[in-house]
Amino acid sequence: MLRDRLHNQNKLTADDEKEIINNIKEKIKKDEFFVNNSFFNREDFKGRLYILLKDEIEKKYPYYDYEVEEHLINKTISEIFGLGILENFLQDKLVTDIFIQDNEMIIIRNGIKEYLGKTFNSLDDVYLIIDRIKNNTGKIVDQRIPFMNTELYDGSRCSIVIPPISDRVYISIRVFNCIDFNLEDLLKLNMFDKKYYEILKNLVNKRSNILIAGSMGSGKTTLLNTLAKLIPRNEFINIIQDVPEIKLKEHPFVRMLCTRTKSRESDNEINQDRLVFETLRMKADRIVLGEVRDSMAAYQMLQALNTGHRGSFSTIHADSAFDSLLRLETLAMEYKTNISNYVVKKMISRAIDVILFLDCEKDENFNIYNRKLREILLLDNNLSEGGDYKLEYL
Ligand SMILES: Nc1ncnc2c1ncn2[C@@H]1O[C@H](COP(=O)(O)OP(=O)(O)OP(=O)(O)O)[C@@H](O)[C@H]1O
Ligand SMILES: [Mg+2]
Repeated sequence: MLRDRLHNQNKLTADDEKEIINNIKEKIKKDEFFVNNSFFNREDFKGRLYILLKDEIEKKYPYYDYEVEEHLINKTISEIFGLGILENFLQDKLVTDIFIQDNEMIIIRNGIKEYLGKTFNSLDDVYLIIDRIKNNTGKIVDQRIPFMNTELYDGSRCSIVIPPISDRVYISIRVFNCIDFNLEDLLKLNMFDKKYYEILKNLVNKRSNILIAGSMGSGKTTLLNTLAKLIPRNEFINIIQDVPEIKLKEHPFVRMLCTRTKSRESDNEINQDRLVFETLRMKADRIVLGEVRDSMAAYQMLQALNTGHRGSFSTIHADSAFDSLLRLETLAMEYKTNISNYVVKKMISRAIDVILFLDCEKDENFNIYNRKLREILLLDNNLSEGGDYKLEYL
């Protein structure tokens, strides 16, 4: 067909693509969706870009029916947000983490560490990436404040440390597109069996207060995110976290609150405990505390849960379900030094209904090849007469 022939002959050239991408760059400078990008992910961007690209192509070639190819969308994304070589990995569904150390790069793909060698020509290229990340987030990392914790435009969590604090430039990225699972996906990934799957669903329905414990990278946030997706849509959910990792796009009444480090002279620091406090005033039906980290927030969270917040979730670093109880006690008592251990235990037993403990199975090279829900520990509302927790492992 003539039309097909014309179509093939008139595939977009590299120059066409460049022009189109430049036009789009101009256009989105004024587009609120792109300017306020912090709470969206790659799929939202792609959807929006697809429409813009289609428009531009039609404007340029009104008589041809060009498809907007995936590669053009990806190219536009990386031009706009400009993370260069990182883009390939941010889009790879199997890559969960990216580490940069000076000009070398390591990724974790499918649980396996892969050393990619010197992927940047020079340290300047690495600082260029840091600059782009800074520009997109408005945060600062420099000699005075040599750390930065932030998210990338696609929701990936990113932390940067630079000399003189460290020997080299380190960038660590937890890629977002892999955290966004459903409970069924985790069942298929063998994180738990069908019996646990039903139990988990039930816990959310029963409005249990859930604490997810585990070591670093064991999948705590992932599980929390999938469980939170099961919360009925009409509830007010306040999510408190350091970077917006947990995202509930289908829920209309979600309030996202993020802590802020002091990265500029004019900033004041905003900690978890302040956000828990605000949450109480906002009449949230559920509180999701991304990770219990500081003692004041731990104490306030316990207070909040003791005053009747049902169906709340949080995560904590710990080596077993039982260990997480000790860690919570320690945190709370660090803040309220004059409180007795008995009272703290009492608060915990009333605040938490169940602890889910996640464990990583690692091979001899410390590659994580499986993440497992190892323990489900039920906590009775009351302590025993001897002042101990009344526990039941499922
Ligand atoms: N069941 C699973 N199967 C395969 N990969 C998983 C599974 N659960 C989580 N992951 C992957 O493991 C990585 C770490 O997950 P996540 O961020 O949830 O861990 P975490 O325990 O919250 O880590 P951190 O301690 O750093 O906060 C993610 O990239 C995620 O995609
Ligand atoms: Mg986490």
